[in-house]
Amino acid sequence: MTSSIVRLRLEPMIAPQPSHRLLEIRNLSRAFGGVKAVNDVSFVVTAGRIHALIGPNGAGKTTLFNLVAGVVRPSAGQVLLDERDVTDLPTAERAQAGLQRTFQNLQTFSELTALESVMVGAHLRSEPSFLKALFNTPAIRQANAEARDRAEMLLQRVGLDTFRDSRSDAMPYGALKRLDIARALAAEPKLLLMDEPAAGLNPAETATMRDLIADIALQGVTVLLVEHDMKLVMSIAETIVVLDQGQKLAEGTPDEIRRSPEVIRAYLGGGIRRRRS
Ligand SMILES: Nc1ncnc2c1ncn2[C@@H]1O[C@H](COP(=O)(O)OP(=O)(O)O)[C@@H](O)[C@H]1O
Ligand SMILES: [Mg+2]
Repeated sequence: MTSSIVRLRLEPMIAPQPSHRLLEIRNLSRAFGGVKAVNDVSFVVTAGRIHALIGPNGAGKTTLFNLVAGVVRPSAGQVLLDERDVTDLPTAERAQAGLQRTFQNLQTFSELTALESVMVGAHLRSEPSFLKALFNTPAIRQANAEARDRAEMLLQRVGLDTFRDSRSDAMPYGALKRLDIARALAAEPKLLLMDEPAAGLNPAETATMRDLIADIALQGVTVLLVEHDMKLVMSIAETIVVLDQGQKLAEGTPDEIRRSPEVIRAYLGGGIRRRRS
């Protein structure tokens, strides 16, 4: 590819084959000191679906995300992205391969406007020279305009067009969560890992977030969701993996998970609910 510019598209991605193994985790383990944070976990994320990863606090969900993203190295096991072994690849190369994540603890570009934050997101998978040139080189004004159009479209899609020129440090929390999603989408991921997108949101914001996640999936981006709001998870996920103390406890449809004896036992017989450690 001669330039990253041609990668900028305004059209949604075509939905991939439903049976395609977009992410495969094979016998993945990671310990911290004596704590087996993730212990021999295997599962597959199929393209074009919403998958959820649930479990009590300390179950290993964020560690699993960190292993998939390449922020944390596994002590055993493999991560395959698009049927390619990426276990030894750095974070940036996984992003190039189509992986993005949103954060439980927001990492925003506070000095930038909402629009600029999303434009930066669009170029995280591009060449550094392109990123450097983004804001000041006349020769690539056309690319800049395309990136801007795309960023504006994404802001609209997450319902933030009115915040276009606001500095992100002046934006309310719920808006920042959606800005983080727009930033991640700007890189055109195939797979989006979302760590507790509804945490800290009120019921109305949570309902909007639910619609947004459904819309992202409809546009052909596969979603792996970590979320404590069981109403949200049960209403949106097609497949659920339950982690408990680093191990996979159960996997199935929302109905199967609700009825699973192991899951019911692990959650003290009270059904799946939020548990704080
Ligand atoms: N960087 C780390 N250093 C030491 N222990 C960690 C680290 N990250 C996670 N852990 C431990 O691993 C376990 C799983 O944590 P985490 O993946 O954050 O769980 P969850 O996201 O499901 O709440 C916990 O016992 C936690 O204390
Ligand atoms: Mg966590």
